[in-house]
Amino acid sequence: MATIRAVVVDQGVPQKLVLQEVEAPHPRESEALVGVHATSLNRGEVEMAMSAATGWRPGRDLAGIVLEPAADGTGPKAGSRVVGLRSAPGVWAEQVAVPTESLAEIPDKVSFAQAAALPVAGVTALRALSHGGLLLGKRVLITGSTGGVGAFAHQLATASGAVVVGHVRRASDVEGVKRLGAEHVVVGDDLGPAAAYGPFHLVLDSLGGPAFAAVVSLLAPGGTSVNIGWTAGESGSVDVMAFNRVGGASIYGLRLDLELRAGGLSDDLAVLANLVAHGRLVVPIEVEESWLNVADIAEGLLSRRFAGKAVLRVNMD
Ligand SMILES: NC(=O)c1ccc[n+]([C@@H]2O[C@H](COP(=O)([O-])OP(=O)(O)OC[C@H]3O[C@@H](n4cnc5c(N)ncnc54)[C@H](OP(=O)(O)O)[C@@H]3O)[C@@H](O)[C@H]2O)c1
Repeated sequence: MATIRAVVVDQGVPQKLVLQEVEAPHPRESEALVGVHATSLNRGEVEMAMSAATGWRPGRDLAGIVLEPAADGTGPKAGSRVVGLRSAPGVWAEQVAVPTESLAEIPDKVSFAQAAALPVAGVTALRALSHGGLLLGKRVLITGSTGGVGAFAHQLATASGAVVVGHVRRASDVEGVKRLGAEHVVVGDDLGPAAAYGPFHLVLDSLGGPAFAAVVSLLAPGGTSVNIGWTAGESGSVDVMAFNRVGGASIYGLRLDLELRAGGLSDDLAVLANLVAHGRLVVPIEVEESWLNVADIAEGLLSRRFAGKAVLRVNMD
């Protein structure tokens, strides 16, 4: 059996993530075989890895080179530099089979590390903002501004012409979020002060909990709060009367996997990569290390030792 190295969950070791030999991938007709050069970590998959069964393989973001194009003739040719987001986890590996509809070629100016940081966080931000339609001149509130999704969402909303308000826990993060385009930044656990800059046509909320409840009362008539997560809490109580009185406001629960069933992933990845190539989207890479350090980087992401994106260089040591 041909093997490759991959990151695998091992509940028998304290840090739970180890590099192991696993069976080499066998691409389907519509899949390209990609040699992975870089990958990035996302909070959800790292949390999942901590409680997953031994043998589970995490990872969805990848950037690398097509080793074998898809047998059905679709997608990039051999030797192409690509970025991809695989719906099935397990891409923290030397080689992966990826459906060609989940790949896009990356411009020469974009590094593998930059590309690898884009997929889950960037596409989530893009899809969440798309629920606001045309954002030109519209007020947009983003919670979790210092996170991976938040950093992309701020830049994309600003590039779309929105008036963007961010939210951070510490005053020391305000300037960084303003550099991403925020006009105002609310500091602390209470989102109430954001009312001074609203009401909002669109909210992108990754915090859940009390923030989920607070932001729905900040919506403009017809506005939408798109919730993508519950980093700060799994439940919150909404003031239903205040929400209803706004008129036409809505709450949307976004699951990236479900959004992607409608297609368009390859186009989204290409849009993001091209924005990076043209200097219009800065990739917030906070940590870039060898994948040999995956366990330490995963722990750092969960404990918020760093903000922004963590990238692992795969097989380049
Ligand atoms: N629905 C989907 O399909 C989907 C897709 C992608 C991501 N997500 C979810 O969206 C969330 C954000 O993802 P991400 O990749 O941006 O995560 P991330 O990089 O880990 O960022 C987390 C953000 O939340 C803030 N935060 C953490 N704990 C907090 C707390 N107790 N109270 C208030 N703020 C807190 C952090 O602020 P500090 O800098 O102050 O720590 C940071 O701004 C995660 O829950 C993730 O699982 C969902």
